[in-house]
Amino acid sequence: MNKLRLGVNIDHVATIRNARGGAFPDPGRAAMLAADAGADGITAHLREDRRHISDRDIERLRLELYIPLNLEMAATEEMAAIALKHIPHACCIVTEKREERTTEGGIDAAGQHNRLAPIVRALVDAGIRVSMFIEPDKRHLDASKSLGAPVVELHTGAYSEARGAEQERLLEKIREAAAYGAAVGLEIHAGHGLTYENGKPIAAIPEIRELNIGHYLIGEAIFVGLEASIRRMRVLMDEARI
Ligand code: PXP
Repeated sequence: MNKLRLGVNIDHVATIRNARGGAFPDPGRAAMLAADAGADGITAHLREDRRHISDRDIERLRLELYIPLNLEMAATEEMAAIALKHIPHACCIVTEKREERTTEGGIDAAGQHNRLAPIVRALVDAGIRVSMFIEPDKRHLDASKSLGAPVVELHTGAYSEARGAEQERLLEKIREAAAYGAAVGLEIHAGHGLTYENGKPIAAIPEIRELNIGHYLIGEAIFVGLEASIRRMRVLMDEARI
């Protein structure tokens, strides 16, 4: 089976830094260490309120990182201008609400088609690999395809919070969405709320090409170090593909 890429989201290194307003811990250093530990890419979400990643972080990551940068962003003119200035390898289009603690739901690719279309087109035309962060739903897969985005990232947040039969049901929805999306020619990614445990069944879905994981890996790093936490995830992902 094809190798599954791991994108490490470093937002919460910046969250800890910003708790004291200084320079430490440095998300750039975490990104380099993640790359050395086997991450295939680095993901960073520049939020409208700049609660974790800053404009300067994006500038530095773009200059210093030797693996691909995936810029997560809301579909706003401000963010599109920043993406077009830096031309990261990839942009993941997400919804953003000021009051949310994290990205709570997928983007309404179907309902917001006309608002999203010019932004997606501008990014794609600039050579950026655009992905739409959507709920595992056929409607949003079709809409992402018609927007011209080559990639979708399936939101695994609800799955990762559910338990028992409900979790199994949501896993099946993700499996079906991955199969459908791949069949219509989309590259399939997944992410949000993934851990060593709940990440395994997701990693075993053959159509999924990339997982983006942040909070859990940064949390684990408190106990075992960032390098070890990433290496362990890498091993579990590889084992799930055998
Ligand atoms: N993918 C997307 C699009 C996200 O918004 C996030 C959270 O910023 C993640 C992946 C990573 O989620 P988590 O931090 O829960 O692993």
